Amino acid sequence: KLNQIGIIVGSLRKSAYSKKVAKQLANLLPVTFNPVFIPIDQLPLYNTDADEPNTVPQWETFRQQLDAVSGLIIVTPEYNRSMSGALKNAFDVGSKRHNHWKKRPALVISTSPGAAGGFGANQHVRQVLVTLNVTPVQRPEVYLGHVNQLFDANDQITQTETLSYLQTAIDTFVTLHQQLTQATNIDES
Ligand code: FNR
Repeated sequence: KLNQIGIIVGSLRKSAYSKKVAKQLANLLPVTFNPVFIPIDQLPLYNTDADEPNTVPQWETFRQQLDAVSGLIIVTPEYNRSMSGALKNAFDVGSKRHNHWKKRPALVISTSPGAAGGFGANQHVRQVLVTLNVTPVQRPEVYLGHVNQLFDANDQITQTETLSYLQTAIDTFVTLHQQLTQATNIDES
């Protein structure tokens, strides 16, 4: 599973800006990395009653997908100054039976058509990641404001400044990923 990067998008909308950003981020990864989109839209709301002794097939599939990756990229929209309910549910599902998130590096990117760039959502995601023993890239912090204005007709971000900022974020994530996988031998755990 080394260099398999799980990409999770916190919006369920077909034409979500977060999804477009995530697709472009996948292309900024080095060729030695394999991005895998992990969907969260099929996950029933977490309920312990349905998890023991037998679990829900969709939850099991999701947990296996988490187990198969060595790093995470999380692109979150902002709902009422926090993450979407769908993303919080995914965190909850992946945290039970055992913690399927742990010991992975994560890049957190928030998006919003507003100027504040989903700051509240970004902070809440980081808070949950700490509980789950995931190590987020500390800096650069990426709050992608005015996201609705970033894309051309082919759904590509072309603005040089934004692109180079995203590339710096990816490069920092790749360095953190190398450090953590070497330090903990995550492939064996
Ligand atoms: C929003 N939106 C929003 N935007 C923001 O900057 N801060 C916020 O707190 C909220 N709150 C909020 C709540 C709910 C329930 C919805 C549906 C939307 C607007 C939001 O940023 C916008 O719909 C984005 O387009 C959603 O992201 P995706 O789906 O394009 O990735």
